[in-house]
Amino acid sequence: MAPDFAALRREFPVLERKTYLNSGSYCALANEVRAAFEAYLEDRLRVGADWDFWVAKNESVRALVAALLGAAPEEIAITASVSAGLNSLASALDFSGSRNKIVISDFEFPTAAQIWHAQERRGARVVHVPRGADGSIAAADFAHAIDERTQLVAITHVCFRNGARLDVPRIVRLARASGARVLLDSYQSVGSMQLDVQDLGVDFAAGGMLKYLLGTAGIGFLYVRAALIPALVPASSGWFAQEQIGSMDITANRPAASARRFEAGTPAVVNCYAAEAGLKMLLRIGTAAVEQRVRALTADCMGRLREIDWTSSTPPQDGRRGATVAVPSRDAGRLVQALKERGIVTSCRDDNVRAAFHFYNDEADVEVFCAALKDLRAALGPPAAPG
Ligand SMILES: Cc1ncc(COP(=O)(O)O)c(C=O)c1O
Repeated sequence: MAPDFAALRREFPVLERKTYLNSGSYCALANEVRAAFEAYLEDRLRVGADWDFWVAKNESVRALVAALLGAAPEEIAITASVSAGLNSLASALDFSGSRNKIVISDFEFPTAAQIWHAQERRGARVVHVPRGADGSIAAADFAHAIDERTQLVAITHVCFRNGARLDVPRIVRLARASGARVLLDSYQSVGSMQLDVQDLGVDFAAGGMLKYLLGTAGIGFLYVRAALIPALVPASSGWFAQEQIGSMDITANRPAASARRFEAGTPAVVNCYAAEAGLKMLLRIGTAAVEQRVRALTADCMGRLREIDWTSSTPPQDGRRGATVAVPSRDAGRLVQALKERGIVTSCRDDNVRAAFHFYNDEADVEVFCAALKDLRAALGPPAAPG
């Protein structure tokens, strides 16, 4: 049975006040996630410190992330951020040999490019796959960059700037053919669509809980394919990355046999409460239903944009975009502000205003957004086409 999206919408109080189209930046807060934050405070007041319970909560988040991604819990590290996970992974890679090339795309989020460029002082060579003339990046564009010197292809699933989705399976096939591994930055996709790491064939995947996973900032994950873990020993570590967390051994580094070796220090306890609640809610609804809903809303939005003659920087094909619809503006910052004054929450990157949809949005949100754009078109519409 399809989820009752109208009833689910009522679980997000901000939606009574705002047209909230900002889940690509930070999700709306659900009542049950708020209750999880409150439960943390209650536990602190009642029990004080409850480390066994808190470690179990962290393990519960690990198991839920694994279920979401079609992975085993042993393949999941719970991290403080995507950046923390990528830095830990990078510290386990060796760039001293001839296979020192890292291929990234021009769609990457800054952190996912900066961390790879930071490896240049360790011998890595970072090659960017640029956008084509139409602003898109096709899988075939990677063929020029990936070769037998490529160690890692590090790609975003969905671009944070314009909502374009890369053709991950085809890029994975290209990487495999050259013996390269693939890291997927899933932050702009996970929770808004089905994402199975086995189906996609990626070796590593990173993401976090504050966008489509309904949780909070300060907690994320890193998936590492089981077969790769033993040979990857991070040079960044900490007591929660050790085989025996409680050993208190100061004589050696003994990394956990599982992906926990990519963790570091004390888990962000309060964030575990919120992340657990958000993940449980999402898994209950089901990512297949969420994907269908988000796809319908973004398609509706793209259609209405065509009606008001406002071009979009987001690909029109359903399978080529994520949950964000981006519209170019002569002054994106002012457009975000003008929308905000009308109770519509969006964000901007480059010259684009981003409207990001989740299952708790509805057709009325699309209508309100596009009606406001129509009104604002004369002052803040798309830039004139060149030439
Ligand atoms: C695609 C993508 N990757 C990474 C990040 C940042 O990750 P973190 O701040 O957890 O390191 C973001 C944040 O917006 C993002 O959209």
